[in-house]
Amino acid sequence: MDTQVLSNAIEYVKAFFENDASGHDFYHTERVYKTAVKLAEKEGADVGITALAALLHDVDDRKLSPETHQNFDNARRFMTENGVDRETQNKVIDIISNVSYVGEKSPVPDSLEGKCVQDADRLDAIGAIGIARAFAYGGSHGRSMYDPSVKPERFTDEKQYYGNKNSTSINHFYEKLFLLKDLLNTRTAITIAEKRDEFMHTFVDEFLLEWDGTDV
Ligand code: ADP
Ligand code: NI
Repeated sequence: MDTQVLSNAIEYVKAFFENDASGHDFYHTERVYKTAVKLAEKEGADVGITALAALLHDVDDRKLSPETHQNFDNARRFMTENGVDRETQNKVIDIISNVSYVGEKSPVPDSLEGKCVQDADRLDAIGAIGIARAFAYGGSHGRSMYDPSVKPERFTDEKQYYGNKNSTSINHFYEKLFLLKDLLNTRTAITIAEKRDEFMHTFVDEFLLEWDGTDV
């Protein structure tokens, strides 16, 4: 992979996510990129493809860019303008089209590079950062932090997952975040996830304790 393409991709996503407050700022992409590269190195994946796919993984996201989501127009245009060959473009698009969590039966990427990008994206949804992102996302979508009368649900497929409109941020832990550690692809990511998952459980246990005033 041409290093100029990667540095252009960094500049491109920096401008792209400039004003996001829903947990998808540039720093999310930057963390996913750095983590994915580390996973790729440890797992023996192609680092260049992994890096480019990680950098472009959210530019055609269904929530952020619904008008380009179907054909991944933003990622395609960036790569074409930067002279990325067709075969590499297709590999990258294949990775980013399968990266997202869409319920318990989310797609498992075919390629090792795709597995690294998906794991890096999921690692950024858990742990301390994951907690902060869940409440940032919830707040920006008008969701409550918690409502004991709204019970967490199980979402198997994409339709159910996106059909869920009025859940709470605490429910999101039960509906997605606590499930992620068992849905990772690579050994390296599973090891990193253990501590992050434990930290989230400690947080939610403490949150519920304080909610009920059990600690008072
Ligand atoms: P990504 O594929 O980058 O993880 P998502 O759009 O699925 O992106 O989510 C962005 C962030 O917002 C993630 O940290 C995710 O866990 C969080 N999030 C998504 N849906 C909800 C929700 N319903 N309530 C609270 N947080 C959410
Ligand atoms: Ni992402």
